[in-house]
Parts: sequence; structure tokens; C-alpha cells
Amino acid sequence: DWTPQSFVEETVEELQQKIGNDKVVLGLSGGVDSSVAAMLLHKAIGKNLYCIFVNNGLLRKNEFLEVLDQYKDMGLNVKGVDASARFLEALAGLSDPEEKRKAIGRVFIEVFDDEAHEISDVTWLAQGTIYPDVIESVSATGGPSATIKSHHNVGGLPDFMKLKIVEPLKALFKDEVRRVGASMGMDANLLGRHPFPGPGLAIRILGDITAEKVRILQEVDAIFINGLKTWGLYDQVWQAGAILLPVNSVGVMGDERTYEKCVALRAVESTDGMTADWVNLPYEFLQKTSNDIINKVKGVNRVVYDISSKPPATIEWE
Ligand code: XMP
Repeated sequence: DWTPQSFVEETVEELQQKIGNDKVVLGLSGGVDSSVAAMLLHKAIGKNLYCIFVNNGLLRKNEFLEVLDQYKDMGLNVKGVDASARFLEALAGLSDPEEKRKAIGRVFIEVFDDEAHEISDVTWLAQGTIYPDVIESVSATGGPSATIKSHHNVGGLPDFMKLKIVEPLKALFKDEVRRVGASMGMDANLLGRHPFPGPGLAIRILGDITAEKVRILQEVDAIFINGLKTWGLYDQVWQAGAILLPVNSVGVMGDERTYEKCVALRAVESTDGMTADWVNLPYEFLQKTSNDIINKVKGVNRVVYDISSKPPATIEWE
């Protein structure tokens, strides 16, 4: 019988035999999979696991420092690398969704390769790949583990890609990964986090990206996500987020006419992201959230709620 406890015991032993005294590098994303993979390896090989957590400047508000602290509290040997400026520079002037993804993937690889070179004699690359990633490449286009895969065919591989690969979660489904994490005593908030795309807010800012747009969207997103938590709705939703639309609309504030940004809120139910239904969030919650956003976030004067399901819509707008 499969139990999380027996999985942890067996996997730790296998990892120890396989890796011995070698060094392993792993890219943390802040998500469930890479975090659980890191904890398993940490249990198996301790300080020989070198974790790298890259801030691409497109994470949720305050997320980089908060999650980095959490990783340190878990005892992980982790280096936080703030490469926000480098990503923003690479994104300047790009509006096409696939071009944005490519730029982010490219810079991620450059940053990760630079960091991996700082570790002498590293021989393994660990990834948080889970079973659905193996059979389906939905989430395989932008996260630390994913980017690496989708660039396998590119000539002149960065050195870290010549490393041997270790993927301890390769046979597990998401719910099993969460149970494994829980059995190792990992924080329930970390394990219950919604999926978040590797390219982050870049694909939720329709059109070109600027630091100011990132700031606006981070504020809006934080109000929405914190509201879901306060109202006890967060765990009923599979994924949620806000989208900054490339339109201005007319509004009125006091006796002034405004002409400002519009944001869309999105919350879906799903099991694997392949299909999804929009969530029937309570009107009172939507009303409060909309008021908070418009009152608190300068530059936004209109909020809409996305009531499209997948298919034919997708979860993200880009
Ligand atoms: P869509 O928009 O295709 O999203 O319905 C399905 C799931 O995949 C996530 N997603 C991504 N994840 N890199 C990622 O790592 C990407 O480029 C990417 N695009 C979409 C999306 O957030 C949802 O969970």
C-alpha cells in the first residue's frame, strides 16, 4: 500500500544510494512541486543540495522575500537571486505572449547557469517534475523545471543542462505530492498554494510589460488573493489571479472624469488545468473586492469578473 510515509522513507534511501556524496543543484519556484522535491533531497543529502530561487520580478507581491525566508526556515541550503531588472530589460517592448515566454525562459537559463557555475563540482540537476508533467506539457513552458525541458533541443546547451537529472516526484500526482510534503511536516500554506505560471505576471499583463504595470497588478492580485483567504474561499478555488487589460475606460471620481486601467479577476475550479470552470464566487465578496481594488490601487477604475470556462477559453488570457 502506498503511503506518504513509506514513499518518503523509500525515496530518501534511493536518493542516498544514487547520489552518494555528489552535489545537486535545484531551482526552487515557490510552488509545491519544487519545494517538496527540495525537502526530500534535503532529507537525503542535506547541505549537498544547493537550491537556487530566482526572482524574475514577475512574482506576486512580497513573494520573493517571504518565500525565501520560508525556505531558510525549512533548513534548505538556498540562494535567492534577484534578477528582476534583467528580466524586465529583456521584456522591454515585447507584447507577443510567446515572445514574452521565450525571453523569460532565456534569461532564466542564463541566470541559473551563472549560479550553477558558482557551485564547484556539481553533478546532478534535480527537478520537481510530477507525473502529469511527464504525460502532458501543460505546465511545462516556463517554471524552473519546465523551462529546462522545453529547451532541450536547443544547440549549445548551458553547462548545467549536461548534468545528470534526478526527479524524485516523477511518479506522483499533485495530491500525492501534497501528502508527501505534509508527512514531512511542511507548512500547509506552502502545500496548499495555487498553481502559478512560470512566466508569472508577464502573461497576466496583456501587451507590453513595464515596472509600473507589474506594480499595479501585484497590488490588485494581493487584494484579490488575500480576500479569498480572509473569506475562506482560497482552498475552494484551484487557481485564481488578476489580469491587467490593455484598455483604459472612463470613470468618475468625485467630480473628476478618470480614464484608467481595467482589471479582470479570474478564479477557476479544475483538477489538472486541462479543463476548468469559472467559480461562482459570492456577490458580496466580489463587491467588496472590487471596491477595495478601485479605492486602493491608483490607476485602476474598473474591475470585471471572467465567467469563461476552459474550453473554449483558457485559464490564462495569454
Ligand atoms: P491555460 O492558460 O493554458 O493554463 O489554460 C493551464 C495551466 O497552465 C499554466 N500555464 C503555464 N505554466 N508556464 C507555466 O509554467 C506557462 O507558460 C504557462 N501558461 C499557462 C496556467 O497558469 C494554468 O495553471
